[in-house]
Amino acid sequence: MHEPSQFIHRFEAGDRPAAPPLLLLHGTGGNEDDLIPLGHTIAPGAALLSPRGQVLERGMPRFFRRLAEGVFDQDDVRRRANDLADFVAAAREHYRIAAPIALGYSNGANIAAAVLLLRPEALAGGILLRATLPLDQPPGADLAGRPVLIVSGARDPIISAAGAARLAEALSARGARVEHRNLPAGHELSPADVTAARQWLADRDRAPA
Ligand code: MLT
Repeated sequence: MHEPSQFIHRFEAGDRPAAPPLLLLHGTGGNEDDLIPLGHTIAPGAALLSPRGQVLERGMPRFFRRLAEGVFDQDDVRRRANDLADFVAAAREHYRIAAPIALGYSNGANIAAAVLLLRPEALAGGILLRATLPLDQPPGADLAGRPVLIVSGARDPIISAAGAARLAEALSARGARVEHRNLPAGHELSPADVTAARQWLADRDRAPA
């Protein structure tokens, strides 16, 4: 099978096959290189799949279009979430990996949330750093038992506490096992994010399947 080509991406095979693969989803203006170091730190030895968002906003890659800050183009969110889920399916077959846990930051966390709500089969769970609810009318979805960590910044000027809470509620209502942490941080990631994500993943590794 050909290398999955829908998205420019990086793939690192990892050397710990038992570790769940991570789908790395960068923030606005980032690219497929950005979260590789974070992936290595929080999930040593895990396979890493890292696509680049296909939307350009004044030259900055994103995963879906927005009409203004915090105002998302709903049709585009749905379309791009489906494209990303299709890419993940093709990449899983090509690289022979299990369903990944998404590790997304900001816009990357928001597209991960959209994929969980629209195409739940694509992901084994998610670590959503500075995320909000990206869909005005999230559809019903079966997320039974799917583990999700949401890490918000109490002083985040971009993602409101209400938006993050709505996301946690929407995922929980569909059966996901949501842990929502609020850090004394802004929109930027802090060392406490890394610790929280790493600890959450390690706890999952130890938990019986
Ligand atoms: C977005 O998806 O637009 C985020 O919430 C903010 C950002 O990525 O800058």
